[in-house]
Amino acid sequence: MEGFIRTMQTTLSFLTPAELETESLVAIALDQSEKDATSTDQSASGKRKKPQLNLAAGDGAVLTVAADLLASGELTGEPFESNLLHKPAGLKAKRLLLISGGAAKKFTSYDLRRIGGAAVRTLKARGIRSFAFIAPPSIPAEEAVKAIVEGALVGNFDPDYYRSDRKDQKIDALTIAVSGNADHAALEKTAREAQIIGESQNFTRDLVNEPSNRMTPTILADRAKKMCQQVGLRCEVHGPDKIKEMKMGAFWSVAQGSDEPPALIVMTYEPAGTPAKPVLGLVGKGITFDTGGISIKPADGMEKMKYDMAGGATMIGAMRAIALLKPKVKVIGIVCAAENMPSGKAQKPGDVQIAMSGKSIEIINTDAEGRLVLADGLFYARQLGCTYLIDAATLTGGVVVALGYANAGVFANDDAMYERFHKASGEAGEKMWRLPLDDEYKEQIRSTIADIMNTGGRAGSAITAAMFLKEFAEDTPWIHLDIAGTAWMEEQKPWIAKGPSGIALRSLVEFVKGLSN
Ligand code: BES
Ligand code: MN
Ligand code: ZN
Repeated sequence: MEGFIRTMQTTLSFLTPAELETESLVAIALDQSEKDATSTDQSASGKRKKPQLNLAAGDGAVLTVAADLLASGELTGEPFESNLLHKPAGLKAKRLLLISGGAAKKFTSYDLRRIGGAAVRTLKARGIRSFAFIAPPSIPAEEAVKAIVEGALVGNFDPDYYRSDRKDQKIDALTIAVSGNADHAALEKTAREAQIIGESQNFTRDLVNEPSNRMTPTILADRAKKMCQQVGLRCEVHGPDKIKEMKMGAFWSVAQGSDEPPALIVMTYEPAGTPAKPVLGLVGKGITFDTGGISIKPADGMEKMKYDMAGGATMIGAMRAIALLKPKVKVIGIVCAAENMPSGKAQKPGDVQIAMSGKSIEIINTDAEGRLVLADGLFYARQLGCTYLIDAATLTGGVVVALGYANAGVFANDDAMYERFHKASGEAGEKMWRLPLDDEYKEQIRSTIADIMNTGGRAGSAITAAMFLKEFAEDTPWIHLDIAGTAWMEEQKPWIAKGPSGIALRSLVEFVKGLSN
């Protein structure tokens, strides 16, 4: 289903918050006590130490309204604790929402982004459609505006399209109250850019949320084409014949088992007057459903494999953001979309496939299909002239074993590129953790009959999957993001709904901005 990304209007205000006429003012309460609020330290009485709560807002009238509640001793000060006051005296706002941000000493824009999302989710659940958020003065204004806008947009998304009882509760308008003598024009630009990034992240989540009967490779390609048309990107989609003609034997080996034709989606952003190099290639795994193929998955939880195209959807959303932000660097987005199915035409364990690069692959497990489609996607990107590569994929259950749900796995064959990416993901507020790619791991994917096997056993399986990809990135600086544990929220959180997270898009966009400088 399409068209549910209703945009949220964002406005900056430089008025004192008390003067803002709004459905609700939102202010952050921070715990100033020396002991950090999340530690297990206990006071002499055996109870947790009482927090010393203060508002992260410079406005005297707002402080006065909140003072009694903050001093009452009723609050824990734990992150996301919320209280809504009606008709706050001395304010033009109809309500004041206080949200706790936890310990003041540890409060960063990473937390602020989540508070922004939590404010949206708290207020829209009450049917409120607009509010004003007081930017905390402790965070530089530009960083704060970016975090609030992005976080609010993330919070505004809900994946309940197919429920007849959808409440359709959305925030339509957000005002951010900024104090101090900030550069207004620069802040407006920051807000506009953050809006593009947040909307693109929701565009990606929209694609990921669709079940496989409504998001086939063909439909994914159509959605990419439509988006490209809207934002002025070149988009080509290659079908089965072209994929075979280009000798993408690894990609085709996955696609051959399904009645749904695969799609190779190629989106090009080439702004006028940019240098020929660098060229960044963004390659996404677009498996619209992963049954495992002949090495079929167990029934329990298989329905989740509709999100196995999250890496591809991330690249499509990233290209949208890039087209609208217009950085001065060439970027090519490539999505290898296919369904992994068992059938009379499906590949079988033991089969040998020849990838586009010429390397031969012994198929040990047809469920290790993501690395097969990406092998040809990465090689193709290099053929198109990419000098940097980033892929994103829900590639392995192994990365979930290694890192759980909090961090995406990052792999890199180039330390300088990794450092740039690490900086970008930090600014984007996305948690990622680097895993190694030592030569020793290559032994696990050595084959007797072919150049390489498509699985390396249980030990370090996220790493051996990345080692497989490395064979196709070769000497091109490359980063691999394994988002299997982070692309889908298993539970709702105060700042985000259960369902697709849109992870990695913001880091990719930040990285591209860095490349163009
Ligand atoms: N799509 C899966 C990985 C996955 C697991 C994504 C959990 C999201 C959540 C991938 O294609 C896969 O099946 N990987 C196998 C590879 C194994 C057969 C070598 C895995 O990691 O178990
Ligand atoms: Mn699989
Ligand atoms: Zn898969």
